Amino acid sequence: METISTVAGLRARVRQWKQAGARVGVVPTMGALHDGHLSLVHAARARADRVITTVFVNPIQFDNADDLATYPRTLDDDARLLADAGVDMLYAPTVSQMYPPGFATRISVSGVSEGLCGGTRPGHFDGVATVVCKLLLQTLADCAFFGEKDFQQVQVVRRMVTDLDLPVEIIACPTRREADGLALSSRNRRLTPSQRETAVALPRILQACAADIAVGADVPAALARAVRQLADAGFDPVEYVELRSELDLQPLAVLTGGMPARLLAAAWLGDVRLIDGMAVPLPE
Ligand code: PAF
Repeated sequence: METISTVAGLRARVRQWKQAGARVGVVPTMGALHDGHLSLVHAARARADRVITTVFVNPIQFDNADDLATYPRTLDDDARLLADAGVDMLYAPTVSQMYPPGFATRISVSGVSEGLCGGTRPGHFDGVATVVCKLLLQTLADCAFFGEKDFQQVQVVRRMVTDLDLPVEIIACPTRREADGLALSSRNRRLTPSQRETAVALPRILQACAADIAVGADVPAALARAVRQLADAGFDPVEYVELRSELDLQPLAVLTGGMPARLLAAAWLGDVRLIDGMAVPLPE
């Protein structure tokens, strides 16, 4: 695996691959890699001839300076994991490479970026859309892989790719979980042992809520109950628990046959913000 940090170096290598007829896949990440990221790499290897993983902690998608400062940075470990996983190139640009002095453009996707995480993290999805657009254009990848844990992010990226006619296929991969159900996340490593014990309540409560809704529970009441249960378990604050259409993220007050629905939540343990989501089984 080679490590490249400049756009020129990246482009030169990708040009060679493409001249040889290779299909190029990219897995954009912010590093601190875990099995969830590696499952994206495996999906990329199955669908592309050459795989690039990008590691870039993108400052413009953080709405909180402490979160940016404490975001785990483990580039050497990441490089080892990626080499073992068969990645061809690690692209790790510097902040000044990505955002040189004078950089002044933002991509803003309306609609799907509003509410949920967009409601509490001002500017977050503009930052995500801007960096993902740049990474897709820098790598000229044919396909790009994202985790479904960040469900709203996937919708924002899909909308942007459609609207800007970017010639790339977006592939969403299922959330990977610990044995007890906690969704894998780079932020999990910041949980204390006791917060880690509490964290498992998030997928458990969402699972129970999804099951209740699937068998006809009143949706607003089921969501309010899940919020209360999370608060009782020790999450503070509980930002949201919502039922949304999987197709366009519209809020759903009832489950209707044929409309895939997803329960989405964000809640804090100390200074760690966790998100999770799960599909609600459709009524027969
Ligand atoms: O999901 C992430 O890790 C980031 O939001 C992404 C897509 C790499 C953009 O910085």
